[in-house]
Amino acid sequence: MILSRTIADVKQILAAERRSGKRIGVVPTMGALHEGHLSLVRVIRPQCDHVVLWLFLNPTQFNSKADYDKYPRTLERDAALAKEAGVDLVFAPSVEEIYPDGLEAYYEKRSVRTYAGACSWGLCGAKRPGHFDGVVHIVAVLFNILQPDVAVFGEKDYQQLRVIEQLVRDMHYHIEIIAAPLIRAESGIALSSRNELLQKDSTAPLALSRALLSARDAAEQGETDAASIRELAAGIIRTAGLSIDYVEVTDIHTLAPVAEIRNEAQLLVAAYCGEVRLIDNIRLRTSGYNPSALKTNG
Ligand code: PAF
Repeated sequence: MILSRTIADVKQILAAERRSGKRIGVVPTMGALHEGHLSLVRVIRPQCDHVVLWLFLNPTQFNSKADYDKYPRTLERDAALAKEAGVDLVFAPSVEEIYPDGLEAYYEKRSVRTYAGACSWGLCGAKRPGHFDGVVHIVAVLFNILQPDVAVFGEKDYQQLRVIEQLVRDMHYHIEIIAAPLIRAESGIALSSRNELLQKDSTAPLALSRALLSARDAAEQGETDAASIRELAAGIIRTAGLSIDYVEVTDIHTLAPVAEIRNEAQLLVAAYCGEVRLIDNIRLRTSGYNPSALKTNG
């Protein structure tokens, strides 16, 4: 496995791979790899010949400097895990390599920018202004540098996945996007790099997945009123002592809030456990769920 730090190097390596007919796949990450990231590698590995792991802690998608500063940085360990998982190339550029005119140029809108569309406006987008603009900007940059044939994104970041699908459609990237299922620990908690920041013995964060599973069961047993589902989930999260950022039932494609679940919907939650912000989501299906129904919510 090669570890590359510069755009020039990585372009040279990938040009040679492309010339020999290789299909290039990318796993975009911000490092602090865990089993969830490794599952993305496993999903994309059979779909391509050369797997690149993008490893860049992108400052412009953090709307709080404190959050960026405390994000775990574990490059050596990440490289070892990537190698073990069968990654061919880890690309870990510096901030200066990606933002050569400095971050001020980005924030002061002096550099060319890509902005996220409507499905970024609610949920995390509303709570973290600028976050999804930073995400689509860096994903456009990574697509331009690596020019992959295929890229994989986890359903753990459900809103991000929808935003990126829109980016690919609107910018006409010839890149296949694979959605990889969210991975939970045995305790039920969704795997996330931020779990590293939680107190090891705290059971409070487990309330998120408990709330989602209870809501899923309620929908399956006939509850179609989104407000009742939200209240059920919020009650469980609040009782565990977490502070809710949002609990929302949405259309599975547009992420617009729905009042009633018709066939299926997505339940998305964000909550603070102390200083640590956790997100999670689950698909809700009604008791008469029909997998072939095209239109889900009006
Ligand atoms: O999901 C992430 O880790 C990041 O948002 C991404 C897609 C790598 C962009 O920095």
